[in-house]
Amino acid sequence: MIQVRNVSKTYLQGKQEIQALHNISFGMEKGEFVSIMGPSGSGKSTLLNLIGGIDQPSAGEIFIDGSPLHGISDDELTLIRRRKVGFIFQFFNLLPILTAEENVGLPLLLDGVPFSRIKEKACRLLENVGLGLRTDHRPEQLSGGEMQRVAIARALITDPAVLLADEPTGNLDSHISEEILELLKNLNQAGQTIVMVTHDARAASFGKRIIRLKDGGITEDVSVPGCDV
Ligand SMILES: Nc1ncnc2c1ncn2[C@@H]1O[C@H](COP(=O)(O)OP(=O)(O)OP(=O)(O)O)[C@@H](O)[C@H]1O
Ligand SMILES: [Mg+2]
Repeated sequence: MIQVRNVSKTYLQGKQEIQALHNISFGMEKGEFVSIMGPSGSGKSTLLNLIGGIDQPSAGEIFIDGSPLHGISDDELTLIRRRKVGFIFQFFNLLPILTAEENVGLPLLLDGVPFSRIKEKACRLLENVGLGLRTDHRPEQLSGGEMQRVAIARALITDPAVLLADEPTGNLDSHISEEILELLKNLNQAGQTIVMVTHDARAASFGKRIIRLKDGGITEDVSVPGCDV
């Protein structure tokens, strides 16, 4: 499902080269739930952004669901990102002027899907994440946990091969975080492949496998105890 082979990422900051990732390799099967942990600056977001096609590696190869993400044009990358990947972030990244339903439907609107189909699917997904009564609310009329649920519904509307989450509970209190993590766990149990970056060991334990990064390299790759991966 996901193959990362000998991937490095170097950023040029003025004249200084920053090696954010050094020669990383790992694979993931369909249906896995991987938590990526590591100290600040260890390359977690960089890795997630490369897997999601937001950025391209300086060296190495990445495949998502059979499609290469390296050595392709920006237009091809945009299409793969839109169709194969769903992203959620710490600060939700919802558009403030759109309602919950409109935010959720946006990725399909950009892809030219008929409006009636978008509406039906957006409403169904909002119901699935427990927000069936909030479809007309704008982000400012929602709590943090509700905004993250909207963001999850938006990420799922394209039926992505993989859901990528960068610190999805980083801006939520512990009680709401547990609810969001339970939701991710349920989605995974229903078959959704997930990669989640987190600082929090408790959050990471909702995954089935933990990959630890340090200084841009993998230091550990283990199954979570109690999981029969
Ligand atoms: N666009 C960029 N330009 C230059 N350097 C960058 C860029 N993005 C990341 N870096 C550098 O690459 C390294 C890895 O950054 P990254 O954001 O992946 O870390 P992280 O593990 O997600 O950290 P955090 O836990 O703080 O979010 C850091 O040293 C960072 O300063
Ligand atoms: Mg980060």
